[in-house]
Amino acid sequence: MPPRMLESAEAARRLGVKLPTLYAYVSRGLLRSHPSADRRHSLFVAEEVEALAKRSRGGRTSATRLATVTTAVTRLDDDRGPIYRGRAATELARTTPYEEVAALLWGEPMEARRWEPLALRPPDQLATLDRLRWSVLMAGSADPLRADLRPESVTAVARRLIATMASMVPQDAEEGAGPDGVGGSMAAVVARGLVERPGDEVVRAVDAALVLLADHELATSTVAVRVAASTRADLYDAVLAGLGVLAGPLHGGASQLAWGLLHEAERVGPERALDETLRWQQRLGGFGHTVYTHGDPRYPVLESLFESVASPAQVAMLREVVGLAAARRIPMPNVDLGLAALALATGMPDDAGRTLFAVARVAGWTAHYLEELEERPIRYRARAVYAER
Ligand code: ACO
Repeated sequence: MPPRMLESAEAARRLGVKLPTLYAYVSRGLLRSHPSADRRHSLFVAEEVEALAKRSRGGRTSATRLATVTTAVTRLDDDRGPIYRGRAATELARTTPYEEVAALLWGEPMEARRWEPLALRPPDQLATLDRLRWSVLMAGSADPLRADLRPESVTAVARRLIATMASMVPQDAEEGAGPDGVGGSMAAVVARGLVERPGDEVVRAVDAALVLLADHELATSTVAVRVAASTRADLYDAVLAGLGVLAGPLHGGASQLAWGLLHEAERVGPERALDETLRWQQRLGGFGHTVYTHGDPRYPVLESLFESVASPAQVAMLREVVGLAAARRIPMPNVDLGLAALALATGMPDDAGRTLFAVARVAGWTAHYLEELEERPIRYRARAVYAER
């Protein structure tokens, strides 16, 4: 296998140094740089960077540290957002259906495949996220070949799982999977679950949202999936681990808070809604991001999709909310505000953002799952530092 190569910024990030320091390492002979194919960038062998990182700790590996993840799935670019195997998600969202983007993430040819759900009847009165989790559990228990971890078997499971989860989105059990629930793209199936009789515009917006949410490098839920994969859990169990983390309000809940803010802004006006929210919640859901320091590049894509389906009053309302937040020096909007706005304008329920996230992210989780299967098993086992309290 050819060595895994890191770009300068990634190598510097791994070593915890700035770019000039990285180049100083090269000129001091501590690290070799290699020209890229177009000879315009320097590349570094991942293993050599790792060895240097270890040397700088006096040759010791830190027992308390979790494994370093080197990935070829998604790179996060501060300006362009997530880049899926070299292709910007913000571009793909405009041009490419979710199913093809999933294949891209999995390293498969981007061609039409079968995405067929299992016919399941969920128990009544489960919340949407619980319906999704229930369907993963049931699909796993019905699969006698779930221990087959060959890549082509794993991606076949992923397609069936995503199609099954998509068919679980409807609130009405009667409309779940089954001959009538089948049909159309994943976006069409999910849109039908979230909106009564969605038009083409809404299905297109849902498809774009699924693409934008399909992966986000090492989001906490993805770490959970990788940890599960490192124990060689099957894909069903790994996805359940991801969904468990996604259920945390700090991960999957921000768009619901943002939906509440926008809903209030429609009801009582943006200024009062913002004031009240800040008074009770201190932070505005849907603003700020741990990775993107000058704005989440996924937001403008969702904002323009929102504008294609929203009323002029809603468009004005969102602009005012964003303007008021900027005037108060609140960080820029993130993907969750875009999801919330889209949900509000199309009449989707307040937790629609999380539902879209959960279905979409199975594509990324599967890509990371496959990558983790190539790594040393149980590599995330760390040691704690014990201190009595
Ligand atoms: N609303 C109001 N003020 C905010 C917000 C917000 N959403 N986000 C950050 N700020 C303020 C902070 O209070 C802080 O002000 P201070 O310097 O006066 O104390 C300043 O902006 C910088 O904030 P940090 O906490 O340093 O920003 P950080 O990058 O750590 O926070 C985070 C990122 C956690 C996402 C935060 O912006 C937040 O809580 N957002 C709301 C929840 C949300 O939308 N989460 C989904 C984002 S997805 C993700 O990042 C995993």
